[in-house]
Amino acid sequence: MTAGVDLGPKAQAIGSDEDVVRVRQLVRTVAVAAKLSLVDQTKLVTAASELARNTLIYGGGGGAEVTVVEDGRRRGVRVVFADSGPGIPDLELALTDGYTTGGGLGLGLSGARRLVDDFDIQTAVGEGTRITVTKWSR
Ligand SMILES: Nc1ncnc2c1ncn2[C@@H]1O[C@H](COP(=O)(O)OP(=O)(O)OP(=O)(O)O)[C@@H](O)[C@H]1O
Ligand SMILES: [Mg+2]
Repeated sequence: MTAGVDLGPKAQAIGSDEDVVRVRQLVRTVAVAAKLSLVDQTKLVTAASELARNTLIYGGGGGAEVTVVEDGRRRGVRVVFADSGPGIPDLELALTDGYTTGGGLGLGLSGARRLVDDFDIQTAVGEGTRITVTKWSR
């Protein structure tokens, strides 16, 4: 299980609203540098913003790491969010539109999944949550 906050040295801490804003700005900067289209930049930034907020609110804080990735023919931007919070007991339920345990709209996780190309969640109750999203250039 690799949930929990074991991110690299360039990881950004997420412990406050200001940190969420900082992560959002960093994702935008890296997405521009990686030459994602304006629409794809916005999709990734929106997804990252929702996931950073979840890391703060539900994960009790954690971290995010933003990297440029290449797969041989495409360049992309990958963002990993990790926390050592309570974990998500029922992932399918958590990914259902409208499901919230916190009085939100319950659209953050499901929306984020739709906005990116690759979406992976590792979570374990009592250990934490690690979500990896990637948006590829096209
Ligand atoms: N990092 C996390 N750790 C633990 N639980 C989480 C985490 N992220 C999401 N969840 C759980 O998944 C539920 C759904 O998340 P989602 O982002 O879709 O909705 P929300 O945050 O409640 O509302 P919204 O994002 O629309 O304001 C949350 O209510 C919470 O129970
Ligand atoms: Mg949310």
